[in-house]
Amino acid sequence: MNTLLKTKYELVQFREIDSTNSYCLNHINELNDKTIVLSDKQKNGRGRLNRQWISNSKDNIYTSIVLKPQGSADNLPLTNITQYMSVKLCELLKEYNINANIKWPNDILVNGKKIAGILCEASFTESNLNGVVLGFGINTNFDPSKNENIDKPVTSIYNETGFVIDKLDFLKKLLDLFFFDYELFIKQKFKFIKNKYIKFFPYIDEEASINDSDSITIGKIKNISDDGALILQMSNGEEKIIILGDLTCSVKV
Ligand code: BTN
Repeated sequence: MNTLLKTKYELVQFREIDSTNSYCLNHINELNDKTIVLSDKQKNGRGRLNRQWISNSKDNIYTSIVLKPQGSADNLPLTNITQYMSVKLCELLKEYNINANIKWPNDILVNGKKIAGILCEASFTESNLNGVVLGFGINTNFDPSKNENIDKPVTSIYNETGFVIDKLDFLKKLLDLFFFDYELFIKQKFKFIKNKYIKFFPYIDEEASINDSDSITIGKIKNISDDGALILQMSNGEEKIIILGDLTCSVKV
């Protein structure tokens, strides 16, 4: 175990687990705010929109953060926490000379290939928020050409730079960046990161289709709203605000 990480953050560490997000959700009442749960591998890593997150390489990062922000859930930027994390990840990757972009809402891509994914889940008892679990998988040192199980274009820090990095050092830097102005973000919500988010979002004015579980919406991306939603212009000129879905654009960034 990395001692620096251990002294600064409350840590729960596994060699293998079904999913760090599921563990946090199942133990949400016993885990303190800002506990970090990490595992070398996951047997049932979960992604957005009920997808699987293949987690068989101990060269990558599989981590969840337990967050227990104060205040009523209605007044917290719960849906934007993934976007806040995606900005922090892109900023950190830049320090490693990697130009990553955000595909709304929170896919992290390098030249159209996925380098990291984020899954945020909240636990409620009736209307009371027990906590939020912010899970992320980062392809750090694995070699995508040796992993045939992944059917989408993927890359890793190693693949982009040719260097093997200390993944726990990367994780510590990310956690430091994340918590540096997290309280400000919780108070000021998406507006606090909007400009930075847009800097990493190169799809404005692109034609796009948004897939949610039961429909596809096609239009041109006009902007990101002050609360992090996608503003799409439809062919009849009307604007539609999209708060959930999977974005596909022809441009690869
Ligand atoms: C995505 O679909 O892009 C999100 C992937 C999130 C994967 C991470 S790995 C750690 C945490 N535990 C999970 O089961 N999923 C998240």
